Amino acid sequence: MILFVNARQVVTCAGPGAARRGLALADVGVRSDVAVLVDGERIAAVDAQHELEQAHPGATRVDCGGRLLTPGLVDSHTHAIFGRARYEEQELRAAGHDYMEIARRGGGIHSSVRDLRARDEDELVSLALPRLRAIASHGTTTVEVKSGYGLTVDDELKTLRAIRRLGELLPLRLVPTWLGAHEIPLEYRTAERTREDYLRLLVDEMLPRVAADGLARFADVFCEPGVYTVEESRRVLTAARGAGLGLRLHADELRPSGGAELAASLGAASADHLAAISDAGVAALAASDTVATLLPGTMLFLGKATQAPARRLVEAGAAIALASDFNPGTSPTVNFPLVLTLAVSQLRLSAAEALVAATVNGAAGLRLADRVGQIAPGFDADLALWDADDYRELPYWYGDRRCRGTWVRGKPCHQYELGLS
Ligand code: NIG
Ligand code: FE
Repeated sequence: MILFVNARQVVTCAGPGAARRGLALADVGVRSDVAVLVDGERIAAVDAQHELEQAHPGATRVDCGGRLLTPGLVDSHTHAIFGRARYEEQELRAAGHDYMEIARRGGGIHSSVRDLRARDEDELVSLALPRLRAIASHGTTTVEVKSGYGLTVDDELKTLRAIRRLGELLPLRLVPTWLGAHEIPLEYRTAERTREDYLRLLVDEMLPRVAADGLARFADVFCEPGVYTVEESRRVLTAARGAGLGLRLHADELRPSGGAELAASLGAASADHLAAISDAGVAALAASDTVATLLPGTMLFLGKATQAPARRLVEAGAAIALASDFNPGTSPTVNFPLVLTLAVSQLRLSAAEALVAATVNGAAGLRLADRVGQIAPGFDADLALWDADDYRELPYWYGDRRCRGTWVRGKPCHQYELGLS
C-alpha cells in the first residue's frame, strides 16, 4: 500500500466513468486535506489524511510536499514513432508554402515515410524511448501511439511491433493505433499501381495481419480533401470495425469534408482535429458518443489563424478531449501542459474544462474512462505530482515543466528531483 500525503490540492476529476459534457466538463473536484491510498495497481481511498494514516500505519508514505496531485494526463493522439525531425518544413511554411502544398511535392508525411522505411524495428524503439520519456516527464501517463509512416504491410507491422515493445519497456500505458491510411503512398499514384490498389492492400492484407497479431486497439484514417475521401475512410474503418478494432478519425483538420459526421455515424471512439468542422458536424458529434478531440498545438505550429470551435462544441453538448498530436510535421511537442495553455488561451476553455478534457475525456476517447483519468476508488493509480499550489497553474506557467513525478498503476513512472520520504 502507498499513501500519498501532504498534497496542498488533490484534484480528483472524480465522477461517472464516462465522457463529461456541458457544465459537467468543469467538474474537477478540488479537495484539500485529503490523502490518496493506493493498493497495488488501484486507488483504494481518497479520504481525510489523519484517518487514512491511522487506518494504514504500515503503508509506504509518499510526501507530496504541499504540491498539487492530479490524475495523470491522457494524451489520446500522438504519432510518436518516426525517424528524423522535419524542421526544414517549418521554414518553408514561414516562407509561404502551405502544409498540403509541401505534401503534394513529396514532403510532409511522405518524407517521414521514406525515412521510417529505411530504419529497423530496434532503431524505431531507440528513437522513440527518449521521446516517450520526455512525454512522461510532463505529466502524461497514458499515450495513444499511431503507426502511419510505414504504409507497407511490413513497415506498418514493424511500427506496431515497436509500439508493443515500448509498452513493455516503459511504465507508461501505451494504446496502439493502426494508421495505415495516413496517406496514399507515392508508389500507388501510377497507372500500374493506383490508390484503389492501396485501399485493397489496406483492407485485404494489412488489416488482417494487424488484427491477427493483436497489434492495435484502434484504426485511424486521415480523412481530408487531397488525402482520403469520406467514402474511402468509411471503407477502411468499416473493415477495421469488422476485424474487431475500435475506430478513430482525423477529421475536418484543414477543410470541411464531412469527417466528423462520418466518425459519429460509425460510432467511432473519437474524431480528431476538427478545426474546419461544419455546423452539421458539430451537431452530429453532439448527438453521438464520439469524443471530439482537439489539438490546438497543431494549428499553432502550422501558423494557422483558426482553431477548432471548442466553445460551440461544448455548448452543443459534444464531449471534447485535448491531445498533443505529437508528430514530426505538425506538432513536435512533448509538453501536454502547453496544450492546456493553448486550450485556455486559444480554445477559450476554463482551466477546469481543460484538465477534465485532458484526463477523463481523453480516457473516454480511448474507451478507458471506466478505469483511467480519475483519482477515485477503483480507478487505476495513474497520478501526476506538480510543483504548483493550484490546478489553474498548469495552463498558466506556459512552456514550463512543473511535473515532479508520475505513477502508472501504482508504480513510479517518471520521477524528477522528488524528495520522497
Ligand atoms: O495529425 N494530419 C495528419 N497527420 C498528422 C501530421 C502528420 C505529419 O505531417 O507527419 C497530424 O497533424
Ligand atoms: Fe494526427
